[in-house]
Amino acid sequence: MKIQASLLPALALLMAQPVYGEVVDISTPGTSLILDAVKGQPLKILYYGAKLSDADKGMLDVAGGMNLNAYPVYGLNPQSEAALSVTHTDGNRTTDVAVQDVKTSTDKDGAKVTTVYMTDTAYPLNVNLNYRTYPGQDVIETWAEIENGEKGTVTLNRFMSGYLPVRYGNVWLSSLYGTWADEANLTEEPLPHGVRMIKNKDGLRNSHTSHGEVMLSLDGKPRENEGRVIGAALCYPGNYKLFVDTDDSNYHHFFAGINEENSEYHLKKGETFTTPELALTYSDEGLSGVSRNFHKWGRKYRLHDGDKERKVLLNSWEGVYFGINEEVMAGMMEDIASMGGELFVMDDGWFGDKYPRDVDNSSLGDWVVDTNKLPNGINGLLETAKKNGVKFGIWIEPEMTNTVSELYEKHPEYIIKAPKREVVKGRGGTQLVLDLANPKVQDLVFEVVDTLMTKYPEIDYIKWDANAPIMEHGSQYLTADNQSHLYIDYHKGLIKTLDRIRAAHPNVTIQACASGGGRANWGFLPWFDEFWLSDNNDALQRVYMQWGTSYFFPAIAMASHISASPNHQTFRRIPTKFRADVAMSGRLGLEMQPRDMNDEDKAICRQAINDYKKIRPIVQFGDLYRLQSPYDKKGVASLMYVTPEKDDAVFYWWKIETFMGQQLPRIPMAGLDPDKTYTVTELNRIDNEPLPYEGKSFTGRYLMDNGLEMPLTYKVDYNKNTDYASRVLRLTAK
Ligand code: DGJ
Repeated sequence: MKIQASLLPALALLMAQPVYGEVVDISTPGTSLILDAVKGQPLKILYYGAKLSDADKGMLDVAGGMNLNAYPVYGLNPQSEAALSVTHTDGNRTTDVAVQDVKTSTDKDGAKVTTVYMTDTAYPLNVNLNYRTYPGQDVIETWAEIENGEKGTVTLNRFMSGYLPVRYGNVWLSSLYGTWADEANLTEEPLPHGVRMIKNKDGLRNSHTSHGEVMLSLDGKPRENEGRVIGAALCYPGNYKLFVDTDDSNYHHFFAGINEENSEYHLKKGETFTTPELALTYSDEGLSGVSRNFHKWGRKYRLHDGDKERKVLLNSWEGVYFGINEEVMAGMMEDIASMGGELFVMDDGWFGDKYPRDVDNSSLGDWVVDTNKLPNGINGLLETAKKNGVKFGIWIEPEMTNTVSELYEKHPEYIIKAPKREVVKGRGGTQLVLDLANPKVQDLVFEVVDTLMTKYPEIDYIKWDANAPIMEHGSQYLTADNQSHLYIDYHKGLIKTLDRIRAAHPNVTIQACASGGGRANWGFLPWFDEFWLSDNNDALQRVYMQWGTSYFFPAIAMASHISASPNHQTFRRIPTKFRADVAMSGRLGLEMQPRDMNDEDKAICRQAINDYKKIRPIVQFGDLYRLQSPYDKKGVASLMYVTPEKDDAVFYWWKIETFMGQQLPRIPMAGLDPDKTYTVTELNRIDNEPLPYEGKSFTGRYLMDNGLEMPLTYKVDYNKNTDYASRVLRLTAK
């Protein structure tokens, strides 16, 4: 229809003053998300941000809200981006959904779920939009369910978890990018016109190159402890797509969900497709405020055993690589025990009978002990661990096999492979990925873990690795017409398997490792207790990687190990004190051969472990305040953790550059109670003399207004001075 020019102002007025129907208020203690659900009309989103009073809620219509479709669908007015695009049974590519009903229910953990039921106006296709809130949490999880009530198969071309319009303005995007050994670099940019997209297509791992989480700062250049910020985390272990479309309207349009490329989904009659959750949060306390919201919610409701302290461990990988044998393992257990550690983890290289795993080109799938290396098997290792008073953990890579393996010889049909193509091989020139879309492979992976845990119930920790992407698009299990389901069905299969594993073995700690930091995503963490952040343990680079990772993930989940100097990736030489001070801001561990350490280094590690145990509850359960970003290039980075009661805190300060005449900023602290008095104790102290404020007390107000002056070097014997300096201070309220 062509609209007469004279009618345009009247139409504009009509559009500016929409008629509101049933207001659906998805509130959390500090935020409001307001929807307008009028029966027979499209669902509208009116507001997302700081908590609204009832009075202000009632004024949204005259104030002028966003009043945009809460879950835009494709077809009518197809110029704009959509969250859902469907081809109906009869080939019609348009969808038009209208509200039928709104219901609330109580979910697991006392969470409240609000569901808006919508149906296509011409087809029996239901789209239910869900919003979950938890008591005391400022995070809203949203996801969609698409139910096919049509007579035949419906094809889903796009199926996002959620959409959020953000008022056009000086909005900045913070996100993480990287690569192997250089994960989680922070990038901050004003949103450009057009589309800014973040995506993943690895198939298996999804946080090496870019991360499925972002922050949107609404008040210009992002600040750590001030300003309005929206955070969004897609909780999905597979391929994802997040994008912001800044078009000619007054909005930046944010979408997040499964990456639909090469993944169109055929939904059979009667079937329902459920998208993964998109977790949204908002804070007016800057980026750190959003991080605290994610951490608090994640520890309580997403991370496996997020309320249990994590042990201090030694992992064998960088210490001995494939050089595993009984004597070496026993030595490592003895050494970590003598330094106060609580757990020893035997990494890659312990298995394989017909094909022993001596390098990375064989044996995955053959999860039997190599008795040449370990004549007394796992039981022997468990006994040695017990003798030393430490727990024992083990490495596996259950989603994989090699062309050189007994598993592959028996079951070549289990691997991911396209017909008529040579199989594409990965690590070691032989690695292959098992097809978890296949229920038989799901059983196999379950049995790998179940057998290990049933035979050796004393295993305390599993490092679950995944060192390959999906290397060719082909499932030997899926039918020819459903090959596009591979990426999605792989992860459905993985989740099913993880559910079974956790039902049978709820207490074993499991680390999500994937060639370093490939699996740092909330979509994995319901089954995993932590993730390996990177194969790069260089403490200087870790300051940056851990900084970025802390935007979305709490320290309890972030494994952080003291490794050898020179570092195995960067070859940088960093003193043990600095390496320890960086590692003890996450889940502390060691990643080296203690037999290669001198007595002084061992003493520093012993002290770090001892000191870490004292502050472990603050680091692992406290509130994070990032203070000085390494990305600001001020020569120093600093952050702190504070208990929720604000009675105990730990402050980290790392000098990341050294120049003579350097003027480093003094760092005001944050998160303390201004009226409490805190006594300062330095941890990991190496100086001959204590700091001038050691044992002295300051009000929280003084510390937050001024901070404390940090000396640039240590008071140590001349030959022990280095170009690195760092401090860890504990602040205990009286
Ligand atoms: C990759 C992991 O990131 C490393 O920590 C180590 O476990 C190796 N795999 C073992 O192959």
